[in-house]
Amino acid sequence: MSLWSVISDGELQTLEFGKKLGRLLKQPTLVLLQGDLGAGKTVFARGIARGLGVDPDIPITSPTFTLMNHYQARLDLYHFDLYRLSDPDELLELGFDEYAFGSGVALIEWPEKLHNSETPGLWINLKRIDDERREITFLLQGEENEGLIATLQDVCS
Ligand SMILES: Nc1ncnc2c1ncn2[C@@H]1O[C@H](COP(=O)(O)OP(=O)(O)OP(=O)(O)O)[C@@H](O)[C@H]1O
Ligand SMILES: [Mg+2]
Repeated sequence: MSLWSVISDGELQTLEFGKKLGRLLKQPTLVLLQGDLGAGKTVFARGIARGLGVDPDIPITSPTFTLMNHYQARLDLYHFDLYRLSDPDELLELGFDEYAFGSGVALIEWPEKLHNSETPGLWINLKRIDDERREITFLLQGEENEGLIATLQDVCS
């Protein structure tokens, strides 16, 4: 199983799905979070951070202006928001490749800015159904993390 969709009935449930995924992450992983403005990417990212064990007193907010926030946890977490990225060279300056393909977990909001939909990693798409509900679709691209989505599906049901 490398493709799975689930419906979230509210913000708390999206947070919980993220947390469950975060708990499962055991190896360096690139997570690409797609969805329109306000779809819930940062909520999901916050869940992953909690599941990875980032101190609950540390707020997980969108790194819209800084491009990246770093958190210490079971695995180092690098949270990117590329919405305001105008020039991909900025990413090189940040050391993006080192983080995205390094020893921690990298979460990327607005991965469209990478202009590479083939990027290997866990692609997560959040789609607004109505004010409260979102369809969350998980797609694993590449050879890494085989079985991750099936395991996630198990722990979510
Ligand atoms: N099922 C749901 N899952 C996630 N968020 C929800 C849900 N229902 C309602 N919301 C609301 O939608 C908003 C999601 O905001 P969030 O910042 O996570 O979006 P985003 O995708 O990161 O947007 P941006 O592109 O601006 O970074 C929050 O205000 C949240 O309360
Ligand atoms: Mg966001």
